[in-house]
Amino acid sequence: MNKTVQTRQKSYSRRAFLTFLGTLAFFYPVLQFAGFKIPKKPTYVNINKPVTTSGFLVTTDFILFDRDNKHWALSRKCTHLGCKLNYHEDRDILECPCHQSRFNVETGEVMKGPAKKSLTFLPVEKREDDPLYVVTT
Ligand code: FES
Repeated sequence: MNKTVQTRQKSYSRRAFLTFLGTLAFFYPVLQFAGFKIPKKPTYVNINKPVTTSGFLVTTDFILFDRDNKHWALSRKCTHLGCKLNYHEDRDILECPCHQSRFNVETGEVMKGPAKKSLTFLPVEKREDDPLYVVTT
């Protein structure tokens, strides 16, 4: 193979690569706008202490409930603008300190806006030994 042909082949592969990058750069915002998301790798959080007799355990990212033979976890991230929700045991609600959205603790549904979307349920595995719960975030 002579030198001119080799240079031309390198040029084609470089051109093809740059075309690929250009296409990706063009379509990525379109895919994002259409709702395409790259799936997040799951993280498993081990809970080694039992929930309180009141049936809940507050962590940094979620609140774990275990009552009436049911267990579930809700994200503490407000669906309005992302503030950390607080659990009010006396009223059995989750409330946002930023704009006072309220959420039902059993369904995660919005009880009072401005939030419009329900809270994210996180899968919980209850176990007999340590860790007592494994929450997938
Ligand atoms: S961030 Fe929670 S209500 Fe606005």
